[in-house]
Amino acid sequence: MGDLESFISQCKNNGKSIGFVPTMGALHAGHLSLVERCVAENDVAVVSVFVNPTQFNNPDDLATYPRDPEGDSRLLAKAGVTAVFLPEVGDIYPDGTGRDHDYELGTAAEVMEGKYRPGHFQGVAQVVSRLFALVRPDRAYFGEKDFQQIAVIRNMVAAEGIDVSIVPCPIKRANDGLALSSRNALLDEEQRANAPEIHRALLDSQAYALNHSVDATRRSVIEYLDAIPGMRVEYFEIVDARTLLPVEDWAEAPWIVGCITVYCGPVRLIDNITFKNELDK
Ligand code: PAJ
Repeated sequence: MGDLESFISQCKNNGKSIGFVPTMGALHAGHLSLVERCVAENDVAVVSVFVNPTQFNNPDDLATYPRDPEGDSRLLAKAGVTAVFLPEVGDIYPDGTGRDHDYELGTAAEVMEGKYRPGHFQGVAQVVSRLFALVRPDRAYFGEKDFQQIAVIRNMVAAEGIDVSIVPCPIKRANDGLALSSRNALLDEEQRANAPEIHRALLDSQAYALNHSVDATRRSVIEYLDAIPGMRVEYFEIVDARTLLPVEDWAEAPWIVGCITVYCGPVRLIDNITFKNELDK
């Protein structure tokens, strides 16, 4: 901890730009795409690996979360990262893991993941704000796989008055379309074979959406995936990408995204797809 803080002070005194990628480890090519961009765009690249207990609302999920510290260190050394931060729970939470205060995260934190994982985003805000205070990054890199998380972190940063630029990065997928996730390691063979159906259903829904309503599109994805043995959609919401609130009509917002969470056996997988983005022209 002291080491990290003095290293960061040194970088700041020398006018070096600091890039930061917070992760929970069990690193894969999705994480590494953020890391590569961070290395390329900053004088100094810091990556943290910390399975944050305060963002897990389900104790089984925390207990089974994949961990691979040796593999992670190897991959990060190869990627040219300047500093790897592997804190213990007591380093981040010296006064225990209780809530310190309620972060103002807006309505974006109340829907979807916020609704199905109560307290999750408060925990994410808590750990990311503590990590930002230690690393003091100029830029921080987040994956669009966790689309809602980026919106919530933007709200947290604004509410806390933290001066950092949040850089969104595109989703990395396996060749069969499955969004890379540390949780994919928990899938058995049959679940792994079915999991790419999530992305397939989302891609099909883009075409379906061209001549169907928002609600019909939403229901078609849920019906398709729920019919696959072992799969259960927790939610599929079609939302305004800026507020994360549901839309009822395709004309209602300039940027519309569909966010999905599916249980594949016991494994909870998330993904999303852009239906339109008129802001990106
Ligand atoms: P974790 O799930 O380890 O993800 C770390 C970062 O990698 C997140 O920004 C996530 O969106 C990104 N990421 C994961 N899979 C990706 C993929 N397939 N393509 C692109 N980016 C991907 O998200 C967290 O950890 C935690 O909530 C954290 C922000 C570290 C706070 O504890």
